[in-house]
Amino acid sequence: MTDDSGRRKPGLPSGEDAGVPGRGPGGPSLQGQDGGGPAPLTDADGPGRGGGGDGPGAGRGGAGWCGWRVAAEAALYGPGGFYLRPEGPAGHFRTSVHASPLFAAAVARLLVRVAEGLGGNRVDLVDMGAGRGELAAGVLRALDAEGGRGQGLHVRVYAVERAARPPGLDPRVEWTGDLPQGVRGLLFANEWLDNVPLDVAEADADGVPRHVEVAPDGRERPGAPVDGADAEWLARWWPLAEPGTRAEIGRPRDEAWAAAVGSMAAGLAVAVDYGHLAGARPPFGTLTGFRDGREVAPVPDGRCDLTAHVAMDACAAAGSRGLAAAPELLSQREVLHRLGVDAARPPLALASTDPAGYVRALARAGEAAELTARGGLGDFSWLLQEVPGATGRTAAPGGYWRA
Ligand SMILES: C[S@@+](CC[C@H](N)C(=O)[O-])C[C@H]1O[C@@H](n2cnc3c(N)ncnc32)[C@H](O)[C@@H]1O
Repeated sequence: MTDDSGRRKPGLPSGEDAGVPGRGPGGPSLQGQDGGGPAPLTDADGPGRGGGGDGPGAGRGGAGWCGWRVAAEAALYGPGGFYLRPEGPAGHFRTSVHASPLFAAAVARLLVRVAEGLGGNRVDLVDMGAGRGELAAGVLRALDAEGGRGQGLHVRVYAVERAARPPGLDPRVEWTGDLPQGVRGLLFANEWLDNVPLDVAEADADGVPRHVEVAPDGRERPGAPVDGADAEWLARWWPLAEPGTRAEIGRPRDEAWAAAVGSMAAGLAVAVDYGHLAGARPPFGTLTGFRDGREVAPVPDGRCDLTAHVAMDACAAAGSRGLAAAPELLSQREVLHRLGVDAARPPLALASTDPAGYVRALARAGEAAELTARGGLGDFSWLLQEVPGATGRTAAPGGYWRA
């Protein structure tokens, strides 16, 4: 399946009815669809000509104009913000968590390995940016079902989320708005970092990176030249020089990831997301919107998701500062294979000896194929950061996630 520009959308099975589709690596944002990049920003709109309105973006000063970070913060998490709506993320797109219970089962296996590496029979799981707690509950279900390996393990599960606790969630899941401190175990952040708001920069006609300001209706205009820590971040991670090229200034994500890793006493922190690396940054950025299963123009009005791919290498560097263990970046395909997610079709002979079992195995293989697909969820990056803890103890050689 492709979007309007012919790019394959990630997170979609190759079958026809994908339900609510996913987000992810689909190339530049809608603003770049003509292949030549977006029209360069001009001052033509003039200051103070914002849309105003009374949505989450209202009241930001300057008749509604502000940087993308402030705009997205209000639109996603302010009063009436997109992520606080009752339908939750799953109402608009699907992540690996929604795609198949095999994903939560793989995370449960990883948790068990982390517990084995740490020793003892207690382990914590932090589901960071938990949505409606689907992963946290799914891991508990998987541990219950896999009795064998999970047995005897006392798991404390936290769901960290800005939205309210959903009704009916497994009571064993502790719902919190703040990162718990000093946990020992696994911190898992699936498609969280791409929703940490950030500012956007665009190189002007002289090649000078300037902040991009946005109005509540999505119109943009050039702002002040980028300076200070943001300019340093751009120079280090995403240099801009060519007029009209854009970058998303990932500093808030670096800080968010470093805080998440820093909250742990020992164990493993994992961020799973769509992203890019230095040397292959998208020239016009990736900021885009999602609503009701469709990619839409990014408008900070609280009615759509606002997401941008993650500079995974920058986050990795920030998260590993001061730690003895080096971060690893692997594809979801590779890690899930190592965690036993297998897309091989069951043997045909099973169809005659155990028809129902064959159908179940076939469905599992289809779900595994979706989670590990090229051009889809399998291309997502897993950033793995081991936190050795006070004892300096690290995982078994090869890491927790290896077979
Ligand atoms: C794209 S959704 C992913 C949900 C879930 N992890 C999944 O994979 O289905 C991102 C979630 O992160 C949450 N989030 C963003 N920033 C957060 C923060 N600072 N603290 C807690 N939750 C946050 C949002 O409210 C949203 O529910």
